[in-house]
Amino acid sequence: MFPFRAFRFLAPLVREQRPIFLVGIVLILLTSLSQVAVPRLVGLAIQKLESGVGLHLITPIAFAMVGAVLIRGLTSFWTRETVIASSRRIEKKLRDQLYEHISSLDGSFYSKTHTGDLMSRFTSDIEAVRMVFGPAVMYSVQTAFTLIFALSMMIQIDWKLTLYSLIPLGFLTVAIRVIGPKVHKESMRAQEMLSGISVHSQENFANAPVIKAFVVEDAEVERMQRLSHDYFRQNLRIAKLRAISGSAMWLFGDLALVTLLLVGGTRILSGELGLGDFATFNGCQLLLIWPMIALGWVMNLFHRGAASAERLQAILDASPLVDNAQARSDINISEGRVSFDKVSFRYLESERPALEDVSFNLKAGGTLGIVGTTASGKTSLLHLVPRLSPVSSGKILIDGNMLEHYPLGELRAAISMVPQEPFLFSATVAENISFGVDDATHEEIVAVARLVRMDQEIEKFPDGYNQRVGERGITLSGGQKQRLAIARAILQRPRILLLDDVLSAVDSETETAILAGLKDWTRDLTSLIVTHRLSAVTHADEIVVLEDGRIVERGTHQSLLEKKGRYDNLWKKQTIESELEDLE
Ligand SMILES: Nc1ncnc2c1ncn2[C@@H]1O[C@H](COP(=O)(O)OP(=O)(O)OP(=O)(O)O)[C@@H](O)[C@H]1O
Ligand SMILES: [Mg+2]
Repeated sequence: MFPFRAFRFLAPLVREQRPIFLVGIVLILLTSLSQVAVPRLVGLAIQKLESGVGLHLITPIAFAMVGAVLIRGLTSFWTRETVIASSRRIEKKLRDQLYEHISSLDGSFYSKTHTGDLMSRFTSDIEAVRMVFGPAVMYSVQTAFTLIFALSMMIQIDWKLTLYSLIPLGFLTVAIRVIGPKVHKESMRAQEMLSGISVHSQENFANAPVIKAFVVEDAEVERMQRLSHDYFRQNLRIAKLRAISGSAMWLFGDLALVTLLLVGGTRILSGELGLGDFATFNGCQLLLIWPMIALGWVMNLFHRGAASAERLQAILDASPLVDNAQARSDINISEGRVSFDKVSFRYLESERPALEDVSFNLKAGGTLGIVGTTASGKTSLLHLVPRLSPVSSGKILIDGNMLEHYPLGELRAAISMVPQEPFLFSATVAENISFGVDDATHEEIVAVARLVRMDQEIEKFPDGYNQRVGERGITLSGGQKQRLAIARAILQRPRILLLDDVLSAVDSETETAILAGLKDWTRDLTSLIVTHRLSAVTHADEIVVLEDGRIVERGTHQSLLEKKGRYDNLWKKQTIESELEDLE
């Protein structure tokens, strides 16, 4: 009945908590026993009163009742302390495990998984699983014990009366089984609507300038009002269903009481049932109502938790495309020679290869210029070097060794990449520059800032190097972000530097100065420079021109000009453009 299979992958985490869960079960047993003891004691007291004994005989019963209530209070407190705390521990470990796993996955996983989806798995799915190991386990065990104890006491008093009074309670369970899933379904829809609202507003807040520039504020406000109205209507629907199920609960609960009064009353009159037993019976019946209601709710928790567990398992089952399976410990990157030998690469989801038959040899300390039309495969080529994506065929060698033979950590430590769209963290300028280099001194940070021609600008910030940037700080210009990202990359003192069109937002003079400075910072730094502006690579040892993933021209700046092909064409265009700019 319960989809236990879905939770199987959590077995190791649950096993660690087993002793605590066992303690929890014993506590729940005590809670249920003390709960059922109360109607029993009330019955006893009434019997005594009926037989006309003095109040002094009732006093021990009253004390026993106080004892039972105290025990129930304490044990149910400790049950929560143990079971709920255990479920929180499982939740924490699951979250850590999931995060670690997601961090180990590569580009192909991130590009096919929606960030919003990942976030919801990380929050609500983990919570749904926790609800299973916390409240769902606790209430189902408690329900089972209460059912057993209360029912057996009722049967012991009068089994026929038990049958009669179970009829309305049976209806109650059926009603809850019918309405429960409806409430659940509608709640899930409401949840989706709410997440729609948050995605919509998040996009709009983050892109406020775009929305204003396109003068679509009114349309966007209207769209939000529609979403918000739908969500409101949905919540009304849920409130109605909840109201129906609430009324049904009381209706059938009260019907059970009426049945007891009628059937039980006849038996009292015929002398078959004592008043005390009648009271005990009534008390037990009241105890049964809550478990009947809880049953539906607990089942929902199990089903929801199972669906969430499956979604979490799907992530945990995804394996990285790039791993350390072929890593060797006897090699390391010392020079930084890079060669590509007939390398082809295709993204998993795409039909066409992004790179085909790409070969080049770059000596240690050399510079390779990579130019080409948009979408020609330049970024894809750079990503292959630190193995952000795996090659589909061909070989990449560094210092003569296959890329796959280097442990990933060592490979990536020797390579710094500045991505096409630089990303800054919501942290200070200094922290952004020294990201990944914990022991960087202030002098080093200033030195790299000077190298990328940022030092004077940083000093003008109100807080200098301690200026916060990003979401909670000042907003930097595109060119400032690019230069900070370069500073961050070179502070790592890599052997190989990959620049993905990272100076597009600075003027060409500064660009030339920065590129020249890089070589002084790290001796023999090998660099692969992707650029749309040819002036950045005129000094490169070799320039390759990519088109549709293939190298269509190659050579030095001079030899390419002499070929009078695509490169020469582009160079002429860019020279005229910059001459025109100079005239202005
Ligand atoms: N994550 C991805 N999944 C699938 N296809 C991709 C992915 N990234 C890029 N591509 C495709 O691979 C091809 C090469 O893209 P790439 O980003 O390497 O081009 P580029 O030369 O860097 O372009 P640009 O100059 O615009 O930055 C394109 O056709 C692009 O659509
Ligand atoms: Mg690119």
